[in-house]
Amino acid sequence: MTQLLEPPPALENGAPEPLCSGLHAIHRTDAFRYLEDAPPNSFHAVVTDPPYGLVEYTDGQLAKLRSGNGGVWRMPPALDGYRRRPVPRFTVLSDADKERLRCFFDRLARALFRVLTPGAHVFIAANPLVSYLVYEPFISGGFEKRGEVIRAVTTLRGGDRPKNAHDEFAGVTVIPRSAWEPWGLFRKPIEGRVQDNLRKWKTGALRRPSPSSPFRDLIPSSPTPARERAIAPHPSLKPQRFMRQVAHAALPLGEGVILDPFMGAGSTIAAADALGLSSVGLEINEEFFAMAEQAIPELSALRV
Ligand SMILES: C[S@@+](CC[C@H](N)C(=O)[O-])C[C@H]1O[C@@H](n2cnc3c(N)ncnc32)[C@H](O)[C@@H]1O
Repeated sequence: MTQLLEPPPALENGAPEPLCSGLHAIHRTDAFRYLEDAPPNSFHAVVTDPPYGLVEYTDGQLAKLRSGNGGVWRMPPALDGYRRRPVPRFTVLSDADKERLRCFFDRLARALFRVLTPGAHVFIAANPLVSYLVYEPFISGGFEKRGEVIRAVTTLRGGDRPKNAHDEFAGVTVIPRSAWEPWGLFRKPIEGRVQDNLRKWKTGALRRPSPSSPFRDLIPSSPTPARERAIAPHPSLKPQRFMRQVAHAALPLGEGVILDPFMGAGSTIAAADALGLSSVGLEINEEFFAMAEQAIPELSALRV
C-alpha cells in the first residue's frame, strides 16, 4: 500500500513498533532531513543503492542524461540494435568529488546509526572503484563491517580499450571488465549476545533462505530485466530477483522495518512488499518518486 506515513512510533522502552506486515510507507523528502527527525532505534535494516558522485542525480546531470549528452553519465553505444543503459562514469570523479563522497557517507553513516536498532544490518550497493569511500566512513561511524555481498552480474559495458587507439593496442584493456557489484554489509553493534539482541530487537543476524541453507555472500544475478525496466525506467533500477534475496536476509526473524533512504523507483520497497515485510522508502526527486508510486505494486506483483 502506498501512502505517506510518519516514521514508525517508538514504544516507551525505545523499541520500535513495526508497521503491519506488508505495509510500506514512501516519502518524497531529503533523506537527511527525514533521518534527523526519525526516532532512535526505529528501523531494523537498511537496504539501499545510494547516489554516487552525488552529482549524477542533480538536475543538471539528469538533464544531460535525458539529452544523451554525457556529463557523469556514460552513454554506451547501441549493440546489435539493443540500446544499452547509461551508467555513471565514476572514473571522472575528481579528488574534490571523492572528498565530497566521503563526507556524504560519513554523514549518512552517522544518521543511520542513530535510527537503527542495535544489531541492525545495512546492505549498501557500491562499485569496485568507489567502495572504499563508503566502507571507511561506515566503520568510523561505529558500524562493524560484516563482509560484502557480491552481486555477480555481467553487463554490456564497453570503453575498456585505450581511447582513440583501439587498433594500435588491440591486446590491451585499461580496466578489468567488471563482472560483479559489491554491496557493503555492516551491522550496528549488538547488545549482549546475538540471542539476547534477537529477542529484544529482532536483529543481530541474517535470515537464511531456508533453515538448511546459509545466506551466501555471492549471489548470481543478471542485468535488470526489460519487463522491470519497462515498469520503472529509472537509470539505476535493481532487479527484483536479487533485491528479494537481500531483503529476505535483512530481517532475521522477518519482523521489523527495512529502510531505503534512496529508493529511486522503489525496487527495495517492492521486494519487501513481495515478501510481506514492512518498509519505508525515501526519494528526493519528484519524477522518481512518482515513478515509485506507480511501479512498486507492479514490481512486487511480478513472479521472478
Ligand atoms: C542509485 S538511485 C536508487 C535506484 C534504486 N536502486 C532503484 O532500484 O530504483 C539513488 C536515488 O537516490 C535519490 N537521492 C539522491 N539524493 C537523495 C537525498 N538526499 N534524499 C533522498 N533521495 C535522494 C536519487 O534521486 C536517486 O533516485
